[in-house]
Amino acid sequence: MKDSRVTCIGSGNMGQALLQGLIRSGRLRPARITATDHRADRLREIAAALGVRTARDNAEACRKADLVILAVKPQILDRVLAEIAPALQPGTLLISIAAGFSTALIERLLAGEGPARPRVVRAMPNIAATVRAAATAICPGHFARRADLALARRLFETCGTVTLVDESLMDAVTGLSGTGPMYVFIIIEALSDAGVKVGLGRQQATQLAIQTVVGAAQMVQQTGSHPIFLKDLVTSPGGTAINALYSMEKTGLRAVLMDAVEAATRRSRELGEPYE
Ligand SMILES: NC(=O)c1ccc[n+]([C@@H]2O[C@H](COP(=O)([O-])OP(=O)(O)OC[C@H]3O[C@@H](n4cnc5c(N)ncnc54)[C@H](OP(=O)(O)O)[C@@H]3O)[C@@H](O)[C@H]2O)c1
Repeated sequence: MKDSRVTCIGSGNMGQALLQGLIRSGRLRPARITATDHRADRLREIAAALGVRTARDNAEACRKADLVILAVKPQILDRVLAEIAPALQPGTLLISIAAGFSTALIERLLAGEGPARPRVVRAMPNIAATVRAAATAICPGHFARRADLALARRLFETCGTVTLVDESLMDAVTGLSGTGPMYVFIIIEALSDAGVKVGLGRQQATQLAIQTVVGAAQMVQQTGSHPIFLKDLVTSPGGTAINALYSMEKTGLRAVLMDAVEAATRRSRELGEPYE
């Protein structure tokens, strides 16, 4: 990866987070990276923060790239693919993080103008890439090679954990972990509100809520125990936890979360549908 020339199309939240992870990991020097965006202010910001090259012309920025990361919104991905297709070399690897766009769809949108057998890897990271704690799933397209998948894995490992999934599960991944940080942000905010409701100051309530979520997640991760085992551990007879649990079950917290993941999965599927 060290000698690869990488172009990132779209320098928004995810583009910046991924490039930051890559640079901080030391796997790629900023001089090997070009970030593009149609917003000059974004480009100035990312050049100052990360020391990467920047460009407004997506096609030109792809011409000499070994790896192109597609980090624009799904709603404009078709236009961006049409723009860069003629500039892609047969050996260029494309990694798309766009929700809802299958590798087959990307390959089809590149057909004609792009390379005959475009090497595409689809990935679904999440916004925790910003703090190098993302959960990312990857899957290969028809023409992606084993080495392409290995490179994608190394790239996303600079921002967190990586798992290989069958592409048929990518929308589900988008609904669960791709969208997932939002569920947890709301849970933290709700816990903070709850703390205030029972008499704590806002700042303390938020701090306690954050550390509770971090600590509980670390406990599940580090002990390897099933969450239900850990739940049983803290629910003593007639205690506070079992009373809280009863209230949560009455209000259907599990169903609320399951509905949310299902809705996001459905929306991910819909994003690629206009082109099917
Ligand atoms: N955000 C998440 O939590 C998350 C998680 C997983 C995957 N993703 C995927 O990551 C991709 C990027 O999401 P994001 O949240 O980073 O979006 P974002 O913050 O809006 O970043 C996209 C950037 O691309 C710019 N852009 C628009 N048109 C362009 C063009 N023609 N050429 C170059 N740049 C252009 C946008 O400018 P404007 O702002 O002016 O439009 C923006 O700066 C999406 O496909 C999304 O599905 C996002």
